[in-house]
Amino acid sequence: MLTFAIETSCDDTGVALIKSDSPFKHEIIVNLVSSQFKIHKKFGGVVPKLASREHGKNLPILVKKAYKEAKKILPNFSFDNIDLIAYTQSPGLEPCLLVGIATAKTLAYFLNKPAIPVNHVLSHIYSVLLLPEIQNNPKIFRFPAAALVVSGGHTELYYLKNLKSLKKIGRTKDDAAGEAFDKGARLLSGPYPGGPYIEKLSQNADESAFSFPRPMIKSLGYNFSFAGLKTALLYTLQKMKKNEIEHKKNDLAASYQKAIVESLAAKSLKAVKDYKVKTLIVSGGVSANSRLIDFFKEKIGQEKLDITFLVPPKFLCTDNAAMIGVLGAIQYSGFTKHLNH
Ligand code: KG4
Ligand code: ZN
Repeated sequence: MLTFAIETSCDDTGVALIKSDSPFKHEIIVNLVSSQFKIHKKFGGVVPKLASREHGKNLPILVKKAYKEAKKILPNFSFDNIDLIAYTQSPGLEPCLLVGIATAKTLAYFLNKPAIPVNHVLSHIYSVLLLPEIQNNPKIFRFPAAALVVSGGHTELYYLKNLKSLKKIGRTKDDAAGEAFDKGARLLSGPYPGGPYIEKLSQNADESAFSFPRPMIKSLGYNFSFAGLKTALLYTLQKMKKNEIEHKKNDLAASYQKAIVESLAAKSLKAVKDYKVKTLIVSGGVSANSRLIDFFKEKIGQEKLDITFLVPPKFLCTDNAAMIGVLGAIQYSGFTKHLNH
């Protein structure tokens, strides 16, 4: 089955062609992402109107390029060969989503193919299906599973009974984890997006130099909260002199990052134990953070949890159309009988 996928929910324009043979067997034929990073950087965040214009400009170029690339890999490829068009329906920035929705529906109409709407947040979870280890041995993806999605707009925790049946069990009460990184970076006079900046500053720095709160870490349930953490950083900075901030910037970033990492891990691992899951997924833009992933691995080891721990390949942590294609294929197909192995 061939899926042509389109992603335009925020500031990355993505187009992909995915070949799927079963729910656990997906191959990337083409995966193109055009980042608008340089355009929004000077504004310190994504400007929706500018982003949607860029999608409008870039999407037709990417569609043509994807066609050419697909031809190189599948010499007989034509748009007639695709089985469906998957597109990001929501959530995201409305003017940006509309560019992808209109393009997908127009292509689907003229090609006489089904257009399948996909949820962007959930698709982050399914990006782990493109991991080589899952492709080589799908049996390591054991159910039930739990999945943490940590992105710029969302921080959510899911329970997966199987590949098609999932339930949200936790979410952030205020800021998303990615937002906490972005806002923290801004307070430290860093660029957008803030995650990679904070991660870089934190390398070899002292994570315990500053004490920042871990809101809700001891609360019942699986919800998160990051707004208080950002305020705590602000208050700490207000008490420091400019040169002192410069001197301690790395330690400030590392301590701030550790607070986010610990909060995410505490609630996710609580869910792992309470729900007795056999697989834990951490996905979304923030899962590109090495400290977060190393901390999860440390804790899983220390607590001797017998689980499969899955994180998408780094190039699929942030927004892309490949994950939209994978979830679109799963939704569209009659794969249900294969779902539990
Ligand atoms: O999933 P994503 O690409 O877009 C959304 O769906 O929101 O996530 C973007 C978020 C941004 O907040 C960015 O700062 C964060 O992911 N991010 C990181 C890292 N790389 C990206 N956060 C922490 N460490 C990173 N290395
Ligand atoms: Zn995303």
